[in-house]
Amino acid sequence: LDRLTETLDLSGNRILVSAGGTTEKLDPVRFLTNRSSGKMGVAIANVATLAGGQVTLVQTNHAVGLPVLPGIKVITVESAQELYDQMHAQVADQDIVIMSAAVSDYRAANQADQKMKKNQFSSDEGGLTLNLVENPDILASLPKEGHYTVGFAAETQDVIAYAEQKLVKKGADMIVANDVSDQTIGFNSDENQVTLVTTEGAITLERQSKIGVAANILAAVQEHKK
Ligand code: CTP
Ligand code: CA
Repeated sequence: LDRLTETLDLSGNRILVSAGGTTEKLDPVRFLTNRSSGKMGVAIANVATLAGGQVTLVQTNHAVGLPVLPGIKVITVESAQELYDQMHAQVADQDIVIMSAAVSDYRAANQADQKMKKNQFSSDEGGLTLNLVENPDILASLPKEGHYTVGFAAETQDVIAYAEQKLVKKGADMIVANDVSDQTIGFNSDENQVTLVTTEGAITLERQSKIGVAANILAAVQEHKK
């Protein structure tokens, strides 16, 4: 890590990072979400700042409370649509865009204005069915010109093959593939084990702290960006 932070120099670079799991409201007191803590994205934002980069962090409410270094511009969002709006609002003039947020693939087709009542959906009348509609794919929708784009891929099987598909489909320059079948790493843990997938091939990093993974991702970006 010492060696990496010595060679990592992001001065003069603007870096946009998203972090955390998004939340989709069902009614004023209930929501759908996922297990992502935001630790990986916040580690990237912090390491990029230490390396001299000018960082904008769009984090979800899951990541609020994680320590963020001074100098980082922090924007907080909740839903995938809010994240979409902020990423598009901030993307101009960035040099590196890193989409590490775990975006809800679906949201409620209709958000109830008032709390849903138990007796509205009795089993006798078929119970409660939630109608979900697809959220926009933020990474795929972002412009790609003028900056280096990194996405993540959480997979439980065929990790590299799926990551390669996402690289092409979303137009990213690198996909950080994450095997989430091992529940002791990834999501809420302080460690991670990832494979960096680019058109030039796949490099598997050793299991290490999320800070270490962040430094390795940024070093690979610095190298590939040249
Ligand atoms: N992503 C996004 N917008 C979405 C869904 C995902 O920007 N609506 C981004 C994530 O931030 C990540 C990458 O796309 O960088 C891959 O996310 P992932 O959930 O692994 O892929 P999906 O395309 O949603 O496919 P699936 O969940 O079916 O594996
Ligand atoms: Ca998904």
